[in-house]
Amino acid sequence: MQVFILKNYEEMSREAALEVKDRLLKKPNLVMGLATGSTPLGLYKELIRLHKDEGLSFKHVVTFNLDEYLGIAQDHEQSYFRFMRENLFKHLDINIKNVHVPNGMAKPCDIDEYCDWYESRIKKFGGIDLQVLGIGRDGHIGFNEPGSSLGSRTRVKTLTEETIQDNSRFFKDQSEVPTYSITMGVGTVMEAKEIILLANGKSKANVISITIEGGVTAQVTASVLQLHRRVNVFLDEEAASLLKRKQYYNFVAKATRKFEKMARAK
Ligand code: GLP
Repeated sequence: MQVFILKNYEEMSREAALEVKDRLLKKPNLVMGLATGSTPLGLYKELIRLHKDEGLSFKHVVTFNLDEYLGIAQDHEQSYFRFMRENLFKHLDINIKNVHVPNGMAKPCDIDEYCDWYESRIKKFGGIDLQVLGIGRDGHIGFNEPGSSLGSRTRVKTLTEETIQDNSRFFKDQSEVPTYSITMGVGTVMEAKEIILLANGKSKANVISITIEGGVTAQVTASVLQLHRRVNVFLDEEAASLLKRKQYYNFVAKATRKFEKMARAK
């Protein structure tokens, strides 16, 4: 895991966008895993800017979203499909046929088959090259709530009361927040070739310190990222505030940039 601590949310978003840009320039048909929530909004805004101002093209990009609420149709105000369309897809030159968000209206009796299909579709495109993740206050990635198997695949997951409460800010009433979701599994996420984890704000400081400096446990599903070969964590100062080895991460970040410069010069 490499940890980058940026001054604020805007810088965090810009740094993450630069990484996406770099990978996209190397592989125009990049397969991206995408997340919803308020955290990646700044990254998406920056990607839109790079597309508009610098001509960064998403024409051949394929995307797979992590999750969707079960029982919510694509055009529902709070569907993750709609979130992605409004906050990213409609502003890019992406081919909508290459966009995948789990179908919240999949029938309960067909759900296992549907989840297998989602997994096979990821495989068909050669797997996810770059996965973007946010993190819930309870350490969930996607909707992999505490206790999710670290080897889990795309499936139905029941949300915790904490997540329902956190996400109720987007709904008129807490009772409207769905109880179930379809989410990629922890095992699915771990197969991505590279992962970006984003977190900002004080409310994420505790879970970030446990995720990065605690033990690997299914009680904090994000902690399994410690076992992945290529994870870059982008944090603002508030989210990083409880990390014990902050100075070391900053030292490594500086040294890495220097090393990359040297490698480019040769
Ligand atoms: C939801 C999503 C997660 C996201 C989390 C955090 O539960 N399923 O993918 O990481 O929210 O949201 P926020 O970024 O708004 O804190």
